[in-house]
Amino acid sequence: MSLREVLLDELKDLYSAENQLVKALPKTVKGVNSPELKNIFAAHLDETKGQVERLKQVFELLGKKPTGKHCDGMEGAIEEVKEALAEDAEGAVFDTGVIGGAARVEHYEIAGYTVAIAIAKQLGESEVASLLTETLTEELNAAKLVMNASKAILKQALAEEGDDRDEPEKKPTTPKEKKSAAKSLRDQEEARKSR
Ligand SMILES: [Fe+2]
Repeated sequence: MSLREVLLDELKDLYSAENQLVKALPKTVKGVNSPELKNIFAAHLDETKGQVERLKQVFELLGKKPTGKHCDGMEGAIEEVKEALAEDAEGAVFDTGVIGGAARVEHYEIAGYTVAIAIAKQLGESEVASLLTETLTEELNAAKLVMNASKAILKQALAEEGDDRDEPEKKPTTPKEKKSAAKSLRDQEEARKSR
């Protein structure tokens, strides 16, 4: 496998990730309570559509097609946002859960673009690197905007729900939560065995 093939794999992964986000972001805009977060996610949806187009341009420059790989990592990150959107919580506390998922999504993309840019530069693909850098700048900015908005939301969450340290720990109830809890025990067990 050549370095160019690794770059193409990374880019196909990002292309799938961005397409998955175009589908997922409208539900996030609708789901959150904070008007500021709604604005940030709506603006990022527009940006994301532009990022899909930019990746098509990148593939054209490289003379390849963008499809061929599904990004499992982004599917998992979006799944976590969906879980936060389905949480039985209200107001700013609910939004805080969504922020956790959204930050993971953004940082996953930031990692992907950072690596793709480094490879493109190494291959002397400066036009590709500069297009990808435009997107990376947008992703970094989106992550920053979400974290800036979170400051007021966290304050509000504390005001609304307080900090109840005596609250009993949440028990898994749905089949999905039970499966997740069982898997977390297995993760711990396997880590212990491999130490
Ligand atoms: Fe993106």
